Amino acid sequence: EDGGPQPEKHCGHGRGGMGEEVKRKEDQRFITGRGNYVDDIKKPGMLHCEIVRSPHAHARIENIDKSRALKVDGVVAVLTAEDLLEHDLATMPTLMDDTQDVLVNDKVKFQSQEVAAVIATDRYTAKDGAQKVVVDYDVLDPVIGADKALEDDAPVIRDDIEGKEDNHCLDWETGDEEATAKAFEEADVTVKEDMLYQRLHPAPIETCGAVGDYDPGKDKLTVHMTSQAPHIHRTLFAQVSGIPEHKIRIVSPDVGGGFGNKVPIYPGYVVAAAASYVLEEPVKWVEERSENIQSTGFARDYDMTGEIAATEDGEIQAVRTDVLADHGAFNAVAQPSKFPAGFFNIFTGSYDIDTAYGTLTAAYTNTAPGGVAYRCSFRVTEAVYLIERMVKVLADELDMDPAEVRRKNFIQPEQFPYESATGWNYDSGDYEKALDKALEMADYDHYREEQQRRIEEDADKLLGIGVSSFTEVVGAGPGQSCDIAGVEMFDSAEIRVHPTGNATVRVGVQTQGQGHETTFAQIVAEELGMDVDDITVEHGDTDTDPYGLGTYGSRSTPVAGAAAAVASRKVREKAKAIAANELEAAEEDIDWDRESGQFHVTGAPDRSISITEIAAGAYMNHPKSEEPGLEAINYYDPPEMTYPFGSYIVVVEVDRETGEVEFEKFVAVDDCGNRINPMIIEGQIHGGLAQGIGTAMLEHVTFDDNGNVTGGDFMNYLLPTSMEIPEFETGHTVTPSPHHPIGAKGVGESPTVGSPPAIVNAVVDAMSHGGISHVEMPMTPDTVWEKLDEAGLSM
Ligand code: CDP
Repeated sequence: EDGGPQPEKHCGHGRGGMGEEVKRKEDQRFITGRGNYVDDIKKPGMLHCEIVRSPHAHARIENIDKSRALKVDGVVAVLTAEDLLEHDLATMPTLMDDTQDVLVNDKVKFQSQEVAAVIATDRYTAKDGAQKVVVDYDVLDPVIGADKALEDDAPVIRDDIEGKEDNHCLDWETGDEEATAKAFEEADVTVKEDMLYQRLHPAPIETCGAVGDYDPGKDKLTVHMTSQAPHIHRTLFAQVSGIPEHKIRIVSPDVGGGFGNKVPIYPGYVVAAAASYVLEEPVKWVEERSENIQSTGFARDYDMTGEIAATEDGEIQAVRTDVLADHGAFNAVAQPSKFPAGFFNIFTGSYDIDTAYGTLTAAYTNTAPGGVAYRCSFRVTEAVYLIERMVKVLADELDMDPAEVRRKNFIQPEQFPYESATGWNYDSGDYEKALDKALEMADYDHYREEQQRRIEEDADKLLGIGVSSFTEVVGAGPGQSCDIAGVEMFDSAEIRVHPTGNATVRVGVQTQGQGHETTFAQIVAEELGMDVDDITVEHGDTDTDPYGLGTYGSRSTPVAGAAAAVASRKVREKAKAIAANELEAAEEDIDWDRESGQFHVTGAPDRSISITEIAAGAYMNHPKSEEPGLEAINYYDPPEMTYPFGSYIVVVEVDRETGEVEFEKFVAVDDCGNRINPMIIEGQIHGGLAQGIGTAMLEHVTFDDNGNVTGGDFMNYLLPTSMEIPEFETGHTVTPSPHHPIGAKGVGESPTVGSPPAIVNAVVDAMSHGGISHVEMPMTPDTVWEKLDEAGLSM
């Protein structure tokens, strides 16, 4: 009935609705130290769990001797796979339907894999006990690297899978092989580049943890856990344990960052829950930092080849890619079930390209399982990196300005809805507008001149300018095509307006710092004419919240945000009936005015009533044609995904003597459709850009040939700090999503997805006059210096 707020016209009307910079409601408790995280939970009689992990990457377990550990004063139990087998809990399904050991039964498949669990009266005693568990290993040759894993004589890691004789995990393809090959044969120009999107770890500040709490009196298992998706976790817990779903309650309290790392179910969660069930006491398990990095879901690890076929004047005709993916010891990627390569299909990016073809082979290796969507929609990051890097490679080959090559190939605004060569339906976009804005903000022409000047003057520091004009795909479902373990990826919101005129909103998604308690309240405030302070948002408790698929892949706004708007509109419809009763008019004569938030009689704005008065009417004087109360719920299955986009421009100085890279300018123009809270969006962009810098410059989970994790702690896995982060200049354009009830798209992951190629393009750009076409991430000073030296540019 009402198309929602219009771009840039919505201003929240002073009530904290859409578009207002409402301060984050949740920050009060966070900045006063009153957050409540899993490790804050204390229960009477609570025991503590420490996991014994394998020092070897590939080894058969010959014996586990618990006796010394059990003698430690305070150790209550030592669990091994044998104990879990009794309860049918020795293995668990991964999100991709593989089977992963909860505790190793026979063969260790990666370093730090879970071998035994020690339960004790406190954490330190549990740790002492863990050190006294004696495990005899028969060490096997480890398989490190997807290429090595696929060699004919590689040891077979997954001999637990019947008939498995190699380390091949899966194959995938998309697009039109023949048409693409033809385009390449006939093209004026073709370019090709190999690039590794290295193994990363999402590294949330809070590690993973759980408190299992089985109540024999109620025969109910409550698990407080660091979960980005409590409802689907409850369903999976029910399936694995055999405990009926209504007898399980998952509570995800405050979560200190997730970034995809808290989507999978980890053995520690299962052990804490199982130990509590067996011992009938609450059991807490909280990881240490190195355990988190070494054993929980990693991200990326895509070794990609990209190719572009184009005309002499830079019109892209075809894109082709081939990927070798390292999936670790189990296929435990976290993405919608039907997408073995996630949404990598989007590798044609923001460009109108006739034909494309992509293939992927994934291998098992003796490394931790993962492939989680680290602040990204399921491999979108890899796809964006591939195409945005390749456009720069093409621009250099043609000696054209990379911004011009992009402009020449953008999908034009009038082409939306646009179907890409791999069959994906983009909802809306105006890519040139965002690029133009970024170019202007970055003072692009000035830096191009400065770059040339430095080359001519043989300056000590070269200048590089990198561009990335990415498009994304966020907001999985639709349920028909996207599911997790068979459950369709819809989401939900329930609104209860109370008699005194305030409201409780419950959503199926789960914030991990994104500010949902504020932004969901803003959506409801906008749609009901309420004040944002009168609305409380709850989430993360499966006993009380409506079922939803959780928060990852920037899906909260596109899916649960839509549900909140639709549920509000349902409330508004009922509110009209109550308003009619109160104002003694016919229901069809009642209008709602977005500006004032009032319901009034058509043509008589003075005969009006607010939502607060309507709430009172709903409980104290309800019309006989209606039920009392004022509530609504919506389960929203999106018709399509949303396609946010942006243009980032990065200017770097590259020191020819040391290979050091310094950021001179960092401009990010984003378009996430209609904006709920510009301040929160800016915060999201800043955080994501920092993570993009970490990706491009610092982070890499590395292994030695024996399978030892050499990048498995914060001494070796380098996160960016404020010292490495420059000032960011952010800007925006607004291109609403035509199918989203409030025209919004997701935004949380855009900066992490969009920035790494801009940064690498900038560093390459500083050296491209020396013939350099690529620098691998992380671009440490030594990597950069080697490239400078290769180009004859080092000093
Ligand atoms: O799923 P997740 O919350 O990680 O990502 P998102 O939907 O992109 O939202 C991240 C934060 O930005 C949330 O607090 C959103 O409400 C907010 N946001 C916004 O204010 N306006 C938009 N158009 C999109 C997101």
